[in-house]
Amino acid sequence: METRIDEIADGIYRLSTFVPDIAPPAGFTFNQFLVVADEPLMFHTGLRKMFPLKLAAVSRLVDPAKLRWIAFGHYEADECGAMNEWLAIAPNAEVAHGSTGCLVSLNDMADRAPRVLADGDVIELGGGKRVRYIDTPHTPHGWDAGVMIEESTGTLMCGDLFTQLGNGPALTEGDVVGPAIAAEDLFRYSSLNPDMGATIRALARFSPRTLALMHGPSFAGDCSGALNTLADDYDRRAAERRPATAA
Ligand SMILES: [Fe+2]
Ligand SMILES: [Fe+2]
Repeated sequence: METRIDEIADGIYRLSTFVPDIAPPAGFTFNQFLVVADEPLMFHTGLRKMFPLKLAAVSRLVDPAKLRWIAFGHYEADECGAMNEWLAIAPNAEVAHGSTGCLVSLNDMADRAPRVLADGDVIELGGGKRVRYIDTPHTPHGWDAGVMIEESTGTLMCGDLFTQLGNGPALTEGDVVGPAIAAEDLFRYSSLNPDMGATIRALARFSPRTLALMHGPSFAGDCSGALNTLADDYDRRAAERRPATAA
């Protein structure tokens, strides 16, 4: 396995590891995003067992000991399995996450106390970079789920939203909704809930210019349109699951 590095927006790097054994023959990618700034931020830690691979990749971009912020979408192994390994090698690093995630997992599981972010909180990273945290509870899964947008580039680090199979290009202007619908049909990974469409649709108000997918290529195109179309599909799924009420 190797980790491929691409700059997908100004100063934002996608570190992508392709695992052909997951969902063969297409395979599956695991992506981290590094925001290079005075206070570098990494979104997703990678799996604990991939830490040496990821450490080598990050070292090609910044001194890993200078990492300042460690963030991720929700508490799961691919999102944050190596959290404590990163905290150990970066003495000034803090985990930053939403209040639910800190309360239910991170206050106990992180080796240093996390920075608790309220919905809409901003972290100034210096060098013109700033990230805003947005709560997306149960979307696509995890009570603690959230996303971050780097506002100078409009890069929405959207975690498991738009998950797709395969090892596509680092950045595409092609369809990201169709492959996401296909992956949802295959994995059933979302916590389908009545608010899910509205939660996804609400992300369009930030007018992202790039979608940074955890599992799939990054997307540079009509991001608001893609979010709205994905939201429509989850509304459809939720309506189909709703029990019919007596007339
Ligand atoms: Fe997940
Ligand atoms: Fe994931």
